[in-house]
Amino acid sequence: MTTEPNQSPYYITTPIYYVNDRPHIGHCYTTLLADVASRAQRLIGRDTFFLTGTDEHAEKVVNSAHEHDMTPMEWATHNATRFKDAFAQMNFSNDDFVRTTEDRHITRASAAIKKLMDQGDIELGDYEGWYDPSQEEYLTDTVAKEHDFKSPVTGKPLEKRVEQNYFFNLPKYEPWLRDQIESGAIKVLPEQRKNEVLGRLKQGLNRVPVSRRIKEDTPDWGITMPGDPDHRVYVWIEALCNYHTTIDTDDRRKYWTGDVVHLMAKDILWFHAVIWPAMLHALGERPPTLVYAHAYWIAEGQKMSKSLGNFIEIDTLGAYADTFSLDAVRWYLATQGPLGATDSDFAHARFVDVYNADLANSLGNSVSRVGNMIDKYFNGALDRTCNGEFGFEGGKALQLALKAREDANKPVDDPTRTFNFNEFTTNAVNRAINAYDDLDLESALRAGLDIVKHVDDFISYSAPFTLAKRVDDLEHADKALATILYSCAEALRIATLLLAPAMPSKSAQIWRDWNCTHLTDPADPNAAFVAPLRELAKWTGDHSIKPNQHINKGDTLFMRANPSDPAPEAAAPANA
Ligand code: MSP
Repeated sequence: MTTEPNQSPYYITTPIYYVNDRPHIGHCYTTLLADVASRAQRLIGRDTFFLTGTDEHAEKVVNSAHEHDMTPMEWATHNATRFKDAFAQMNFSNDDFVRTTEDRHITRASAAIKKLMDQGDIELGDYEGWYDPSQEEYLTDTVAKEHDFKSPVTGKPLEKRVEQNYFFNLPKYEPWLRDQIESGAIKVLPEQRKNEVLGRLKQGLNRVPVSRRIKEDTPDWGITMPGDPDHRVYVWIEALCNYHTTIDTDDRRKYWTGDVVHLMAKDILWFHAVIWPAMLHALGERPPTLVYAHAYWIAEGQKMSKSLGNFIEIDTLGAYADTFSLDAVRWYLATQGPLGATDSDFAHARFVDVYNADLANSLGNSVSRVGNMIDKYFNGALDRTCNGEFGFEGGKALQLALKAREDANKPVDDPTRTFNFNEFTTNAVNRAINAYDDLDLESALRAGLDIVKHVDDFISYSAPFTLAKRVDDLEHADKALATILYSCAEALRIATLLLAPAMPSKSAQIWRDWNCTHLTDPADPNAAFVAPLRELAKWTGDHSIKPNQHINKGDTLFMRANPSDPAPEAAAPANA
């Protein structure tokens, strides 16, 4: 499958996060997925835009600001800064960070709401319903009853609210929505979530309240409903607009013309798969192309909650990064997280297992073995390349390696195995590119690790250390050895390209040690790539390891972890 990769612009968003509290693993996880996806698309060669930010006009921001003796704006700024810092700490490559209290958002979101009002999609009406203040949303009677009039998410009591409100006429768009989602024009993933959304659409739709009346006893907070100073725009409705308003500039508008990907957890899928596309359609805009809702992280087997105080905070992730490296944390989250429909457990023992298996014993060990052998047997530079099939003038590398094993009384069980690294790595690259299209980040990253495992397997089979003992008495053994080690190094080089979206710093470290020319600035892991992935990953192509290229042994990438060491702990955060 070597279809040309999609070259249209790629736009990916995360939810914008509430600023009533500080960031935790859940916020970091979704944003990490978007980061890995963006880095991958940039590597593939697509013009990519990655947006994240904060959602600031929620009523709960007013309440928590009050508890902290701050104005809502002060508290929002305090927490927005924590999110920005956390995302910088995680080395996220977002192209912008939007705050919904910024003028650029307020102006454009107001214009969108006004347009919907002018054309009759938003109208005034009476409303009585069950409101969940902790989630800032109205629930249907059925859902409220089902949960005993408590919030399905936080368990806090629901409030019966009677209001005169503005409403968005969602029912009008039901047939269109159904068609878009069923046909895959709006792809909803994972499949199970798509079925849930379609099931709920079949039950019929209600008008969506899009405003709240300001209360005299609380600070005025929110965007004024166009033409009605008594109402503020309901936070969800303006928040969704951020995806469109932030890129509504001459140089960014192109991002709405290619893949538009909204990423979030299952809690807020309905807003993204139903309400938002209907609003866009009403506004005459294209809907998103992919809406992806992952499941939740839980902690040591338990749901994370305020009352249990068991949130994995950014500071805990920081403590893990200090002990195991940031890229190891990124790897664990990206490959072991709740990307599919089931929740994932952040458990220390599991972290250590994955760290040792994938990073210390696999990638790290393989890179260090190959580097050490090239250093030891060839003073750090090979004088030849290999076509990936182990032939060279005058002999066959693999056959000589097997002969050396045989002579040393260590024959292999199956002497007929063949290894074609060129084909293996090309397939892995194609698999990764295809997996990235559906945000299947785990498979895409596994494709990189599969190359590493293939190299390990090949080293065990070809036993270069045995062959190395014969360079003086077995004809062509030196050439065979160089050919074998070249293949290992070149395959690992390609593997690191596929792993780089999750582990940009470690990959850049290997490329520096091995003098690989992948980045426009080798010293900066976040620098642009010099060519698209398919070019970079070509076996014996322009960016391959060259004869006499210096391969330095380098520092240990990942120290093996001791499973009985205690879990890293963070100091308690200041100003909770
Ligand atoms: N402000 C709204 C979103 C508006 S988007 C137009 C909101 N904010 S939030 O701060 O509550 O963030 C919810 C999102 O945080 C989830 O959809 C998910 O992306 C992330 N997570 C929060 N807790 C999580 C877990 N326990 N596990 C994984 N991700 C979770 O909703």
